[in-house]
Formats: sequence, C-alpha cells, structure tokens
Amino acid sequence: MYKILEKTALNPTVTEMLIEAPLIAKKAMPGQFIIVRPLADSERIPLTIAGYDRVKGTVKIIFQIVGGTTMELNALRAGDSVHDFVGPLGRATEVEGFKKVCVIGGGVGCAIALPIAEELHARGCIVHSVVGFRNHDLLILEKEFQACSEEFRVMTDDGSYGTKGVVTAALEELVNAGNQYDEVITIGPLIMMKFAVKTCQKFGIKSVVSMNPIMIDGTGMCGGCRLTVGGETKFACVDGPDFDGDLVDFDEAMKRGTMYRDFEAHAREAACNLLNKEVQ
Ligand SMILES: Cc1cc2nc3c(=O)[nH]c(=O)nc-3n(C[C@H](O)[C@H](O)[C@H](O)COP(=O)(O)OP(=O)(O)OC[C@H]3O[C@@H](n4cnc5c(N)ncnc54)[C@H](O)[C@@H]3O)c2cc1C
Ligand code: FES
Repeated sequence: MYKILEKTALNPTVTEMLIEAPLIAKKAMPGQFIIVRPLADSERIPLTIAGYDRVKGTVKIIFQIVGGTTMELNALRAGDSVHDFVGPLGRATEVEGFKKVCVIGGGVGCAIALPIAEELHARGCIVHSVVGFRNHDLLILEKEFQACSEEFRVMTDDGSYGTKGVVTAALEELVNAGNQYDEVITIGPLIMMKFAVKTCQKFGIKSVVSMNPIMIDGTGMCGGCRLTVGGETKFACVDGPDFDGDLVDFDEAMKRGTMYRDFEAHAREAACNLLNKEVQ
C-alpha cells in the first residue's frame, strides 16, 4: 500500500497527488511513468511521474478524471493509500546535450511535459514552453512552467486566456521570430502531436512525441501498447513512451485508441454509480 500524503484539485477535472514511494522516487527520471491500481479490484492504469523528491521519498502524479479508474483514484483522500504503485517504467526522456528546446503541452499532457522542461532547464538548456487548453478554467501548472522557461506561451481554444488558437500557431511564430530549436518535444492529444510534427517538418526541426496508448502490464508482455514507428512494431511501455515524431504512424494510433470506447463508457457509468465522486 502506498500512502497519499497530499491531494490537490488543480482544476475541476485534474487532481495532483503526492504519494509516499521512496524506492520509485530514488530511481525516477523525467518521462517515466508508474502503473497504479487505486483499489484491490481496480484496473491498472499508467500515469506519468510528474515530479519526485529523492530525499523525502515522494512521487507526484497529476491525472485527469476521465473514466472509471481515475474516478476511483480521485475518490481517495490524503491519508488513504493506493493499492499498487509500480515503477518507474518506460525510458526516460533524453535531456542531455541540448542548447535550446521547445516543449509543448496540451491539456493534462502538460503534467508530463513539465518535469521534462524542468530537467532541461536544470541542465542549462534554454527552454521555450507552449501550453494549450480549451479554456482558462482548465489551465494548470502556469507558475511552474514560467519558472523553468525563458519564453512561455499559453494558447486557449476560445481565447479566454493567453492567445486564442492552437499550439502550432505559437510554435510557428517562435520559429519565424528566429528561434532555432535542437528539437521540439510535444505531449498531448494524438491529433495535437500529429500537427506539431507536421509543423516541425515544415521547418526541418527534429520532433519528439510522448505516446500514450492503452497499457496493461507496462512491461512489454501483453502487446496492448503496440504502435508502428518507422514501419516497425514498437511497444510504448518499454521502447517509449517517447518516439521520433517523424516516424510515428499517428493515423493507426488514433484508430487503435478508439477500440475500447464502448467498454470505457460502461466502466465510467458503473464507477459513477458506485462512487460518491468525492472531490476534496
Ligand atoms: C505512458 C502513459 C502515461 C500517462 N500519463 C498520464 C498522466 O500523467 N495524467 C493523466 O491524466 N493521464 C495519463 N495517461 C492516460 C491515463 O492512463 C488514462 O487517462 C487512464 O488510463 C484512464 O483510465 P480510466 O479508467 O479513468 O478511463 P477510461 O474510461 O477507461 O478511459 C478513458 C481514456 O483513457 C485512456 N486509457 C484507458 N485505459 C488506459 C490504459 N490502461 N492505458 C492507457 N490509456 C488508457 C484511453 O484513451 C481512453 O479512451 C497516461 C497514459 C500512458 C500510456
Ligand atoms: S503495456 Fe503490455 S506490452 Fe506495453
């Protein structure tokens, strides 16, 4: 059992939790993830390590409440424990040797992008960050991104905060202003990552994307997270989650991502009925 030390609502649908997990905190690197099972009979779901403190032995997770398992997790309070918390899993994001990188986060993808931006900044790389949300109410981690970014842009779909528009518009503007990036790292919805890659290709910039297919075991055994990268089958849990954006077959990944929609809707309804949906 892993104790929840703190629980904070970052916006109406996104929660941050600090979990006591010293062995994971000791080894964790940006870009890696854990698999959590909130209750003994819950499904296992992957969540990125959004932060860690090796001295205090804590790991931060930030999750969007989208379905049955994230509802079960969100129903737990500070002082409760999660049943399983396994990791760190996956390969760490490459952060060595870069001079200037643009980090793009979309929605809750910002929780995955932030530790990468922080680590790049800590290593002396110039970080430009672009974050995108549907509206101002959904904005998260603004101060944290500002603290590690030389340039920080917020884009909203409805213009309620920052600049109205999509993240790729900000990226184009930054590149057209003369910024030369070693690479652009994008984390968010598949469609956003696909278009970020296209924008990078237009300017001849290397792109990296963090893929988030359905994962079951997280150790390369089940094949659930397979995707096609450069014409080869890869497993996001052990070969990724980061991949060269130019090589990812996004159309196939988007098709696979909708395979379980009916089951998920059913699980979400079941969890809604079972839980009190408590939000602290
Ligand atoms: C490597 C990785 C890191 C992730 N990091 C984060 C994070 O830091 N914060 C966050 O909010 N979300 C993250 N996700 C997505 C998160 O795992 C899903 O939102 C979660 O599994 C939803 O489960 P559910 O039962 O609440 O919802 P469901 O109703 O079951 O599913 C809602 C959507 O979540 C996705 N999903 C469902 N089950 C899984 C699964 N086992 N594996 C992967 N995706 C699934 C699907 O796209 C699905 O359409 C990550 C996914 C991966 C693969
Ligand atoms: S989650 Fe099973 S192979 Fe990746």
